[in-house]
Amino acid sequence: MKSRAPLFDRLVEHAQSNLISLHVPGHKFGQGLESEAAAYYSDVMAIDATEITGMDDLHHPEESILEAQQLAAACFGAGETHFLVGGSTVGNLAMVMSLCRPGDILIVQRNVHKSVIHGLMLASAQAVFVDPGYEEESGRTLGVDIQDIREALERYPQAKGVLLTNPNYYGMGIDLRAMADMVHDYDIPLLIDEAHGAHYGFHADLPESALTAGADIVVQSTHKMLSAMTMGAMLHIQGTRIDRRIIKQRLAMLQSSSPSYPLMASIDLARLEIDTRGEQLIGQGLEVIHYFCKQMSKYPRFRIYQGDGSYTQDPFKITVTDTSRILSGPALAQALEQRGCYPEMSDLNHVLLLFTLHSTMEDAERVVRAFEDMESEMNEAIHAIDETTCQLEAKRVESLRINKENSIRLSQPVQFDSFPIFEEQYEIVELSQAIGRKSAEMIIPYPPGIPIVYTGEIITSDIAAYIQLLIEANVRIQGSEVGNTRMVNVIK
Ligand SMILES: Cc1ncc(COP(=O)(O)O)c(C=O)c1O
Repeated sequence: MKSRAPLFDRLVEHAQSNLISLHVPGHKFGQGLESEAAAYYSDVMAIDATEITGMDDLHHPEESILEAQQLAAACFGAGETHFLVGGSTVGNLAMVMSLCRPGDILIVQRNVHKSVIHGLMLASAQAVFVDPGYEEESGRTLGVDIQDIREALERYPQAKGVLLTNPNYYGMGIDLRAMADMVHDYDIPLLIDEAHGAHYGFHADLPESALTAGADIVVQSTHKMLSAMTMGAMLHIQGTRIDRRIIKQRLAMLQSSSPSYPLMASIDLARLEIDTRGEQLIGQGLEVIHYFCKQMSKYPRFRIYQGDGSYTQDPFKITVTDTSRILSGPALAQALEQRGCYPEMSDLNHVLLLFTLHSTMEDAERVVRAFEDMESEMNEAIHAIDETTCQLEAKRVESLRINKENSIRLSQPVQFDSFPIFEEQYEIVELSQAIGRKSAEMIIPYPPGIPIVYTGEIITSDIAAYIQLLIEANVRIQGSEVGNTRMVNVIK
């Protein structure tokens, strides 16, 4: 059975049946497409069906969608799997909203994706935030410490669950098995945002998956590290700690009543691929990475972080830094883009390269050539700007160190709610004047989409300095105009 893609097969069968559409979508399987658009869209629109007879229904699956989801559950080791058409974003919303009633406490890793914060807002839940660790050498944040989670559970025995991101954007993760066992000792579920780890567990050289480690509910972006179309994702459940009926109800609330069939079929196909050829394709992808890293060792100015063994590391995520401190992360990204290589993201000091099971040796070769080219071109003008950035970044890492030494790792419970902050409730002030005030907006560098400040959080001098740093380094900021105006909305 696993070598079929039932939903995709059903769509193809329908497309080849020469039937007349008297239903939506209005493009009638792409009949009116102009030539250039047709070249790109006609095959996709030919399978862009909807919930007509025989096509099943994501919100009440009984036929091919049910079968496709059951195959996915078997493939990933879940008790039940739901296809998501709004990315891990919708999965995270559903996860939080299914577990928490208003006022309930959820223990949450501080550097979660904004969708988790939005979930807390929609559920009107409280979060006890647990700060992640950080890697001294690179300044990148790591996962949370198991002892900190234990402390949170001891202090807040009424907590409904623990929600963590694993792996993080850089592919760094923690020993989830020990975490799952510990959380289950308190008889509550472990919720994992595994947006970046849908490929985990399919090759001996990759970390184990969150489901195998024992997580109760797991959200994965099938479109990130596997091959589904953008927005294709999955939510998996196992065991009895999660009420499956409520998850379905939340997904029915949050997902479109007209989910895209080409998108869902691409999730089905991504499952088929990893199920039948995953190990072989991942093996090929790993060879590309080994080749890339070996070639890059000729250019020691560009250092690659591959983990020091104290945390799990996804080999497909490659963080590169310029050890000469000439190019900051955004400058490094720009230099790569000028050479035709588009990285996943950059932070102040690093650029993140994302390879997958479909990266090729030719891709790796081109990226190596770009670094080779950059090594020979050292630009003094860039040097001057970025030295300041590097000094400021060093200050940020220093403040992380001070926080760590003072063991400020757990927040007080923070109550979220979904009401917007209306005009009469906030005022706009300069960033420097916002210190000590409560933010009336989320401030989110994107990517990675992790809020530095959530609505209602006090803007400390460290936070203000960090925002200043991001602005100077030209990092894109969402949720706020601070990047363009240096003004912030604060609560009156
Ligand atoms: C950790 C994490 N969770 C969730 C998401 C949201 O995923 P999606 O883009 O599939 O909605 C992202 C997106 O980057 C992410 O980094």
